[in-house]
Amino acid sequence: MIYNKTVTLKDGRTCVIRNGEERDAEGVLAVFIATHGQTEFLTTYPDETPITPDQERAYLKGKAESGRDVSLLAEVGGVIAGTAGTDCFKAGDKVKHRAHFGISIDEAWWGLGIGRALTEACIECARKAGVLQLELEVVSTNERALALYRSAGFTEYGRNPKGFRTRSGQWQENVLMRLELEEAGQ
Ligand SMILES: CC(C)(COP(=O)(O)OP(=O)(O)OC[C@H]1O[C@@H](n2cnc3c(N)ncnc32)[C@H](O)[C@@H]1OP(=O)(O)O)[C@@H](O)C(=O)NCCC(=O)NCCS
Repeated sequence: MIYNKTVTLKDGRTCVIRNGEERDAEGVLAVFIATHGQTEFLTTYPDETPITPDQERAYLKGKAESGRDVSLLAEVGGVIAGTAGTDCFKAGDKVKHRAHFGISIDEAWWGLGIGRALTEACIECARKAGVLQLELEVVSTNERALALYRSAGFTEYGRNPKGFRTRSGQWQENVLMRLELEEAGQ
C-alpha cells in the first residue's frame, strides 16, 4: 500500500510518514537491527532475523504493491527514525478481516510524537484495506507503548503470563490488544 503524509513533531521538526521503497532497504534494516537491540520489548533479538538488503528490497516492494498490507517509515531530515506496519492474516476467508500491527522507533527519537503518527497512519491504511480488527501484543511493563495503544483506541482482551522469555531467563507477560474498525460505508 502506498502512503505519504507530513506531520510536525513535538519539537517543531517535520517528519514524513511514508511507505518504504526499495531504495530504503539499507536504512530500514539498520533501524530494525538498532531498535531490536535497544529494548527487551520486541519479539526478536537483532541476530535472529538475518535479512539481506536484497530480501528487504523485495519485502518493501511487495508491501508497496500490496492492496492490504503496509510497511511505513518515519523520516526526519533524511534519517529513518522508525518503522511500523500491518500484516493481514492470510489463512483464508474466516480470518481475512484481521491484521497484526507492529512498530519500533529508534530510542533517540522517542517522545516526539513519531509513535503516534505511525500508529495513526497504520490504522488509516488498515481501514482503507478493509481490515475490521487490528491486533497486537505488548509486554505488560511497556508503559509507553501501552499508553500509546490505549489512546489510539486499542483495548485489552487477554494476557499471556509467559508470552516471552528473555535470554537472561526472565518471563514477560504479553497483553493482547485489539482495535475494531468499522466496515466501509458505516
Ligand atoms: C512505544 C513506542 C513506539 C512509542 O513511540 P514514541 O515515538 O516514543 O511515542 P510518542 O512520542 O508518539 O508518544 C505516544 C504516547 O506514548 C505515551 N508516552 C510517551 N512518553 C511516555 C513515557 N515516558 N511514559 C509513558 N508513556 C509515554 C503517551 O501517551 C504519548 O501520547 P501523547 O503524545 O499524547 O502524550 C517507542 O517507544 C518504541 O518504539 N519503543 C520500543 C519498541 C516497542 O516497544 N515497540 C512496541 C512493541 S509492542
